[in-house]
Amino acid sequence: MFCYIHIPFCESKCKYCRFASLWSINKVLVNKYLSHLLYDIKNFKRPVLSSGLLNSVYFWWGTPSILEITQLAEILDNLRQKFWFEKNIEITLETTPKNITSENLIGWEKLWINRISMGIQTLNNTTLQEIKRDQKETILQGLEILKSGNIKNISVDFIIWLPYVAPWETLKDIKYILENYRFLTHISVYMLEDYYVENDADSSFEKITYPEGWKHLWLEEKDYQKEYEEIKNYLESQWFFRYELSNFAKTWYECKHNKSYWNHSENVWFWLGSHSYIWGKRYAYKDDFIGYYDKKFEYEEILSQDELFLEKIMFWLRTSWIEKNIYQKLNQAKIDDFIKSWLLEIRNETLMMSDKAISLIDKIILEII
Ligand SMILES: C[S@@+](CC[C@H](N)C(=O)[O-])C[C@H]1O[C@@H](n2cnc3c(N)ncnc32)[C@H](O)[C@@H]1O
Ligand code: SF4
Repeated sequence: MFCYIHIPFCESKCKYCRFASLWSINKVLVNKYLSHLLYDIKNFKRPVLSSGLLNSVYFWWGTPSILEITQLAEILDNLRQKFWFEKNIEITLETTPKNITSENLIGWEKLWINRISMGIQTLNNTTLQEIKRDQKETILQGLEILKSGNIKNISVDFIIWLPYVAPWETLKDIKYILENYRFLTHISVYMLEDYYVENDADSSFEKITYPEGWKHLWLEEKDYQKEYEEIKNYLESQWFFRYELSNFAKTWYECKHNKSYWNHSENVWFWLGSHSYIWGKRYAYKDDFIGYYDKKFEYEEILSQDELFLEKIMFWLRTSWIEKNIYQKLNQAKIDDFIKSWLLEIRNETLMMSDKAISLIDKIILEII
């Protein structure tokens, strides 16, 4: 079983990010949110059949590293009182480069946080300024501090297709980082998500739309795919193996929470808008502060066999392959079309996606189901 803790506050809003997070770290707002979060943990009722044994705790979006060490400690203490922590539990904290200071690192180590995930995105300072992220110097300084610390499981994130980033520049950045910071154990390489135009009136969070001016700065999709393939080859040559569409890890360093999530393990999320999954039942809070503070469940549903099957297909295609007896039950005509266009392939009687499919995976899954 694994647990997510969401801290929906960021010092500033990165222009590309559509995760639900407030563009403020105002102490009053953060404290109010934390008091509700702690209340939820204390009052969490574990279903009788659930083991309550956690193998991973993941502090994530917006920016959990804005929390003081005492605040993180209080969350972990309360979790320990409610759940059992497995001996080798992985406790991950997502951080911006700026929040990596020697004092914070010592504090995180004392709390037994044993995995750090830092967003780099790119080393191009023009882009970093445009997307409102910490500059290259701050990124490298953060990595230097991590190098001298005791946390040995460190991941970094990159995004391909950001504005002003030239073809092959992301590959060059990744090479630079790996050559200079050999202690890294995990890399996520995301593709900038689709242009986002939806607006959800019910949410407390402003939904972002990429600036119009970005469009002509993007690479052509075919260039991007070639670069992604090269990045994958390079990472494999450095012993980082892909275990999911966008995630590469050295042996033994695959992120436990990623793997458990895609594998449909039980999970419990504490935050507004959370979607916990316990014994075939999914619970969701409303994606806004007022709904969350009123403890309003948006829905509580038992997943049907069809929904579980769809999610399994997604999991298999994103992480490995689909066995013949399963893919034969899917839409054969569509599968043949995707094979002809080199997006899917059959290897050893199993169906797999090709590297070219990285930007289209969700569309492909919906069509072959
Ligand atoms: C919650 S954020 C990271 C934690 C921390 N707040 C930070 O910014 O470093 C997780 C990662 O999602 C990725 N991400 C966010 N928005 C994205 C988008 N629109 N397209 C692709 N990747 C995105 C970024 O690589 C980011 O580092
Ligand atoms: S990328 Fe991270 S810091 Fe930037 S807005 Fe999103 S969650 Fe906040």
